[in-house]
Amino acid sequence: MARTWVERTTWQGQPAWRKTYEEGGHRRRIAALRWLARRLGANALLAPVPLTAERACRTEQSMINRLAALGARVPPLLQVGERELVLGDLGPTLAMACRAERDPAGRQALVLRGLQAIGDVHALGGYLSQAFARNLTVQAGAIGFIDLEEDPATTMSLAAAQARDLLFYAHSTARFLADQPGAHAALLRTHLQSVSAVVREEVARTAHALRWLVPLARPFGERARDVAEALGSLAAACR
Ligand SMILES: Nc1ncnc2c1ncn2[C@@H]1O[C@H](COP(=O)(O)OP(=O)(O)O)[C@@H](O)[C@H]1O
Ligand SMILES: [Mg+2]
Repeated sequence: MARTWVERTTWQGQPAWRKTYEEGGHRRRIAALRWLARRLGANALLAPVPLTAERACRTEQSMINRLAALGARVPPLLQVGERELVLGDLGPTLAMACRAERDPAGRQALVLRGLQAIGDVHALGGYLSQAFARNLTVQAGAIGFIDLEEDPATTMSLAAAQARDLLFYAHSTARFLADQPGAHAALLRTHLQSVSAVVREEVARTAHALRWLVPLARPFGERARDVAEALGSLAAACR
């Protein structure tokens, strides 16, 4: 995985983001995760192989172009270099919006909006890079997608890539509905009823493969609790 630096900037008087790609990253961790994913038969967890800075930069451009062609909201490419992009601003991230939203019903609506927007991309045969709440944006109700430097379809099937989006999204949004028991699982269950059988099976297989993590993770701090929470939701949604 290439390492990236992102800083806020302006472009012709408008807010924009300068994203710079460097070599490095988590080669060992990714190798370990790929090994574990293979052992578990969890295709959707097979992390894409590490990229050079230039390839990550090119991948981000091609993912943006491909998603834009599907009608998804992605950042305009304002300036393109070999290891650097200037991207148009798509507003605050969904994670920020959820943290700022005090009303539980409002938070539920935000999480649902994100899920529907991912569903729209999937319905057109698309997929994302890392569909965490911090990599979705929301502006005047419109969901955008950022952080597209990885192309999961280089290492997995379309169904597995779409399942991976749902797993990442579930993992990163569980915390926002933790005060509403059953709400997160209910959102996922409804969504999973609308996806193709192969994607549903891929999600179910991964949730099943990771079920042993749930009781282990719960007592281990906030991040681990999020994983447990999301897997609990997914397992409930897949039943
Ligand atoms: N086009 C954009 N619109 C709005 N916010 C952005 C945009 N690009 C980057 N950001 C902000 O910068 C952060 C990091 O950018 P991202 O592309 O996700 O890189 P990283 O690989 O470092 O996660 C995002 O979580 C978001 O807060
Ligand atoms: Mg990011």
